[in-house]
Amino acid sequence: MKTVGILTGGGDAPGLNAVIRAAARRLRPNGYALLGIRHGWRGLLDKETVPLDEKATTGILHRGGTILGTSRTNPYKTPEDAKRVEENFKALGLDALVAIGGEDTLGVAAKLSAAGFPVVGVPKTIDNDLSGTDMTFGFDTAVSIATEAIDRLHSTAESHDRVIVCEVMGRHAGWIALHAGMAGGADYILVPERPIDLPAVCAAIKRREARGSRFSIVVAAEGAVLPEGEITKSAALDAFGHVKLGGIGERLAHEIEKRTGCETRSVQLGHTQRGGTPTAFDRWLASRYGLLAADMVHEKRFGMMAAYRGGMFEPVPLALAVKQLKTVPAATLDLAAALFA
Ligand code: F6P
Repeated sequence: MKTVGILTGGGDAPGLNAVIRAAARRLRPNGYALLGIRHGWRGLLDKETVPLDEKATTGILHRGGTILGTSRTNPYKTPEDAKRVEENFKALGLDALVAIGGEDTLGVAAKLSAAGFPVVGVPKTIDNDLSGTDMTFGFDTAVSIATEAIDRLHSTAESHDRVIVCEVMGRHAGWIALHAGMAGGADYILVPERPIDLPAVCAAIKRREARGSRFSIVVAAEGAVLPEGEITKSAALDAFGHVKLGGIGERLAHEIEKRTGCETRSVQLGHTQRGGTPTAFDRWLASRYGLLAADMVHEKRFGMMAAYRGGMFEPVPLALAVKQLKTVPAATLDLAAALFA
């Protein structure tokens, strides 16, 4: 019997358990045992594992989070850790490893693969900013949650004649802000790809007011940038060199109120966008990714990531997926602007 390790790294995303379940169900009949690596790359550093038998992978399809736990551990941060991870890969007797994650987790997977280890990747992130695939799982759920929130903000904003700024996740890319903002009928959408033009935001709010709409909804990605720079919660960097973002909504609300005289509130959706059960679409997408990853292992198509492109599922090189982030094209942003009042 061959052993396939599986790990989930980085921020959790709805659908992680669906990938694990699908991969397990596809691999088992082909004579593979699945070994869960706990807490992402940290589990490989510490050799913390859990057997994934049939019982462990049953009843998890609809569950949010990850049964394996996750972390933002970067084993390539020091040469000692890199050596330990590579030694433990062998010591655990892994014939292959399925790494489920975003740019950071898959970046490590690409390095391990380049070092000769049999690794395949699965694209996860609510931010949808991974290249090589049209959509990552977790994104649809985050957009659904944010859209529902924007709908709810509309009625309270309208009742009070207020502006409400809704801050959503999206560190480098504004996909959640764009899709949820469009679906929720936002009056302005701010994304990391385009510097914030505060006079333009305020002018749009005033135009609406002049037409009799005394409320407005502004959706802002956490990574949207003011002329003075990103708004961060703390300057401390994580293992992959990222700062902790958060607070742009509050800052914008303050500025908008000051400049327009309109009463303004802000709400930060934060981790509610990542928690809870996946949408039907994410359960399906994650399951298809899990099935493909299992087949890639069986066919020894290592160094590749399961991808969804133009309606088809196919492997793409991991190196391609992590080369650069998939951000929102300028033309898409220009088109969305036509929807602003
Ligand atoms: O994984 C991406 C993400 O959703 C980003 O949009 C956000 O900045 C980050 O996770 C926050 O995650 P955590 O609080 O777990 O560090």
